[in-house]
Amino acid sequence: MALPPAFLDELRARTPLPGLIGRKTRLARNGRQWKGCCPFHNEKTPSFYVYDDHFHCFGCGAHGDAITFLMRAEGASFPEAVERLAGEAGLEVPKATPQAAERERRARDLYGVCAAAEAAFRRRLMLPEGRPALDYLRRRGLTEATIARFGLGWSGEGRGALAADLKAEGITPEQLVAAGLMKPRDPDRPEAGLVDMFFNRVIFPIRDRRGRTISFGGRILGDGQPKYVNGPETELFSKRRSLYGLDLAREGAFRGGTVVVVEGYMDVIALHQAGFGGAVAPLGTALTAEQMEALWQVSPEPVLCFDGDAAGAKAAFRSAELALPLLAPDRSLRLAMLTGGEDPDTLVAKGGPAAFEAVLAGAKPLSAALYDLLAGATPPATPEQRAAFRNRLDAAAKCIPDKALSSEYRRAWLDRFFAEGRSARPASAPRPAWTPRGKPGELVSIRGLQRTAINQEAICLERARNLLAILLHHPALLPEVEEALAGLELPAGDCTQLREALLAWLPGADHLDSTKLMDHLREAGWETAASWATRKRGLSQAADPGAQPKEALEAWWHFFGLLRGEAELIEDRAEAERMLVATNDPVVQQRLISLNKALDALRRGEADEPAESGTI
Ligand code: UTP
Ligand code: MN
Repeated sequence: MALPPAFLDELRARTPLPGLIGRKTRLARNGRQWKGCCPFHNEKTPSFYVYDDHFHCFGCGAHGDAITFLMRAEGASFPEAVERLAGEAGLEVPKATPQAAERERRARDLYGVCAAAEAAFRRRLMLPEGRPALDYLRRRGLTEATIARFGLGWSGEGRGALAADLKAEGITPEQLVAAGLMKPRDPDRPEAGLVDMFFNRVIFPIRDRRGRTISFGGRILGDGQPKYVNGPETELFSKRRSLYGLDLAREGAFRGGTVVVVEGYMDVIALHQAGFGGAVAPLGTALTAEQMEALWQVSPEPVLCFDGDAAGAKAAFRSAELALPLLAPDRSLRLAMLTGGEDPDTLVAKGGPAAFEAVLAGAKPLSAALYDLLAGATPPATPEQRAAFRNRLDAAAKCIPDKALSSEYRRAWLDRFFAEGRSARPASAPRPAWTPRGKPGELVSIRGLQRTAINQEAICLERARNLLAILLHHPALLPEVEEALAGLELPAGDCTQLREALLAWLPGADHLDSTKLMDHLREAGWETAASWATRKRGLSQAADPGAQPKEALEAWWHFFGLLRGEAELIEDRAEAERMLVATNDPVVQQRLISLNKALDALRRGEADEPAESGTI
């Protein structure tokens, strides 16, 4: 038995082609598609292209979708290829039952029913009875070409008009119910008969990504409630998976248009008419994860457009939250805000395409937009507010499953947090100048950490304890290491809590004095954690209250380096160097210096560490 087309569509939509094909041949982004050497014939110059839903080789003519790719590349049969892709996509292959066969036949018929209904609605728009609707659309600025392109129509007054129109084509009222075009007058009394879903409304056909009509929306002429009626869920139409305009936006995006999500039917239509071929809208609900996936199939970084008011900010926030767990290096978002109570439709009506162009130009990358949203309306100012804000940033970054991306978000946010914190508050604490690397003879001897020690976790905990103890005894070092400390991954619990307490204390402290700090921690309820951190056994000499500040600082960078890891430090340094070249930002320069310091301390410390095992 053939599988239901809707299932195969879903399977294709959930299988990112570049990912699948990239396992067989190296692909590089090439504009909006991917390009590489054809896996099906021998070639040195790439002529194999991967698009969002198919591949094509201009060398040998190989062509197909995810399923045919697997069949050709691995010699799989059709059912095997489907089974494998479904497994990876987390979908269950529908069983071949008579009911399923019947459902499939109905679904195939439903496309025909929807197409016939659309044609009937369009005809009616051009009849005398459709005149007020046609005038309404013209008054709203739509051209004949736009009306035709979107297939807009007129429902008629109801009373079974559609069923009568379609009877000649052999379409039954029951089929109209299945297509979401009619419904029982009274669900409890089937004998009361059926009524039209849409009457006295302008009709907007809703299409799937391939351009097949799967449902309809209807707008009342002028004012009145409800303004829009949307078709119900059917075998063809799932509201949470569909996007109005996606069929056209795929083409728009292919031609270089920005994929932009707006709120309503009329916004999409007005934007397309104004030349923004990538506009789409959800169907009267907030954007869903499924819709985001569909967007990413078309564009790596679609723009979500929101109203500039509180409700818009809330919706933006919700979308950002929803997107975080789905982000990947080639799947992101930008957020744009409208202002002055305009929607995209009224905006282009008043200001022309340039006005919306400006909105798109002002779209912020998700990372920047989310920072602003998390910061709230007034920038966090008190230590408590700043600490709470940083916790929010932290929690948000943790929602990103891609490790590299998550740490990039965290770092970008902390950079901005500290840069803004610095410019917002005068330098309250003196910033000790960077003391250059000492001669080998003066090196700190660090006995605390042995490679042969019990286990990695315990080692890590002791390193973190040393790192914190140094700061508890030498809080004057805090301003210099603040940024590095804030960005460091520490064992959860006492360590992270102490860090929060230290960082929260710093901005308001008059004297960076150990006694004062300890008093503060005691009052704030951190006494146990602080005495655990400063317990003498296993602490490096450099963490001693009597150690020279310079010695303590060197040791601090040493522990930092050990906790961060050499490979990461080298990566961090390369990134900082790139950024410094690009921005010439003194903050980045400072970070570069610190990273070098940490690397030096780490390498020196490791070389100097006695080889025999000792106490932790
Ligand atoms: P809006 O109220 O912003 O309408 O609803 P609009 O798109 O600007 O429409 P015009 O310009 O007045 O014609 C935005 C979207 O919310 C859904 C529809 O999808 C609409 O396009 N909606 C709105 C409904 O589903 N039902 C309603 O009653 C209103
Ligand atoms: Mn509107």
